[in-house]
Amino acid sequence: MNADQVTDWATDFDIFDPAFLEDPFAVFAELRDRHPVAHTDRWGGQWLPVRYADVVAVAGDPEHFSSVAVAVVGLKPGEGVNLLDAPPITADPPFHGEFRRLLLPAFSPRVIERLTGWTAEVAQRLVDEIRESGDTTVDAAERYARHLPVRVIVSMLGIPAEEEEQFTDWTVRILRTDPTDLSDSIAATKELLAYFRAHVQARRDDPGHHDDIITMLMNAELHDEPIQDRHIVSACFLMLIAGIDTTWSSIGAALAHFGANADDRRRLVAEPALLPGAIEELLRFYAPVTQARIAVHGASLGGQPIPAGDRVLLPLPAANRDPEVFDDPETFRLDRAENRHLSFGVGIHRCLGSNLARMELRVALETWLAAFPDYSLVPGEPLEWTGGNVRGPRRVMVRLV
Ligand code: HEM
Repeated sequence: MNADQVTDWATDFDIFDPAFLEDPFAVFAELRDRHPVAHTDRWGGQWLPVRYADVVAVAGDPEHFSSVAVAVVGLKPGEGVNLLDAPPITADPPFHGEFRRLLLPAFSPRVIERLTGWTAEVAQRLVDEIRESGDTTVDAAERYARHLPVRVIVSMLGIPAEEEEQFTDWTVRILRTDPTDLSDSIAATKELLAYFRAHVQARRDDPGHHDDIITMLMNAELHDEPIQDRHIVSACFLMLIAGIDTTWSSIGAALAHFGANADDRRRLVAEPALLPGAIEELLRFYAPVTQARIAVHGASLGGQPIPAGDRVLLPLPAANRDPEVFDDPETFRLDRAENRHLSFGVGIHRCLGSNLARMELRVALETWLAAFPDYSLVPGEPLEWTGGNVRGPRRVMVRLV
C-alpha cells in the first residue's frame, strides 16, 4: 500500500487507498461534480473518467484507447517486458473481432441454457454440504460463492475438476494483486500458462474424445490456418480468469446484500418473478470490474488531451452511479425498471460470458434462498472488499437461521 495520504482526489487519487476500497462511490460522486476526468501520478499514472458518457466514449474508441494492457496497474507497452497477449481481451481490431468470433459459439444462450440443470446440481451440493456440516454461521463467499463459477468454467473448458483449488489459487494470485509487488501475480500467470501449454500438448499427443472449449479451439481455423497454440493457451487462460473472480464477487456481493437487507430478501422470496430484474440491479450496484486502456496518439477525453502511452481506467462501477443515466443511482431498487448498467462493459469487448454469469447468479441465488430464506449477515463482521480489476467481498459471514 502507498503510505501517502490522499489529500486531493482530483489530482492524486489512489485506487488502493483503504477509504477507496471501502467506499469508492463517495469518491466517484465527489469527482463527477468537480473533476470528471481525474488524474494521478500513483501506480505509474492513471486517468479516471467517472461519467457514464466518458466511460462509453473510451470503451467505444479502440482506435484511441487500446486494450493492449487492461490491468489497472503493472507494465505498459514499451516498459521492457512482453505484455500478456490473451485475445480477445488484449486484442484491438481487426484481430479482436476475428478471434472473438471463434469463442462466441461456446457462450451462446442455447449452450448456457443446457448447462443450467447441471449448475443447479452443483449449487445444491454446496448447500447440502453446508447443511450437513451442522455449522450455523458460515463464510458464504468461501463456502458457496467461490465454488460455483470455477466448477462451471472448468467443466466447459474440459480441464480436471479435481484441480479446482489450484485454479482458484492461480486466479486469486493473478487478480488480487498486491500493487506494490507484482512478482507473485507474474509468477502465477506463468504457472497457469504453463499448465494450459502442457494440457494442450497432452491433447495433441493423445487426442481422445472430448466435447469442450479446448477441443473447439484446437479444431478451429483462422485465415484457413489452425489457431496457434500460444493463442489457444492464452484464450483458455483468459476464460478461466475472467470466469472465476468476477462471478464469485457478484454472487458474494448478492449474498451480502440480501443478508444485510431483510426487506429486499423477504420481497424476493415472496415474489420470485422479481429475480431477473434484481440480478441486473445487483450487477449495477455491485459492479465488480474496472478495466484499463492505453491511450494512443491523438486521444482525448472530455476535451482533455491524453498523452499517448498513458493508462486510462474504465471504472464501470462509477458509470453505473451516474445520475445523468440512473434515477436515484445511490439507492438499490430491487424492481428498478430502466437499467442500462455497464457492468459487462460496452463496445467491442463487451463480456463474452454475460449469459453464463447471469445464469450462475440466478441459480446461485435461487438455490441459496430456497435453502436459507431467513439467513442474515453477522453484525460487526467486515466484508473487506478486494480492489484492483475486480471488486468483491472477501468474507461474507452469515447466520443461516
Ligand atoms: C458477473 C460476472 C462478470 C462480469 C461483471 C464480467 C465483466 C466483463 C467486462 C466488464 C468485460 C469487458 C472487458 C473490457 O472491456 O476490457 C468482460 C469481458 C470478457 N468476459 Fe466477462 N464478466 C463476468 C463473467 C464472465 C464469465 C463467467 C466469463 C466466462 C468465461 C467471462 C468471459 C469474458 C471474456 C472472454 C471477455 C473478453 C471479451 C472481449 O474482449 O471481446 N466473463 N467481462
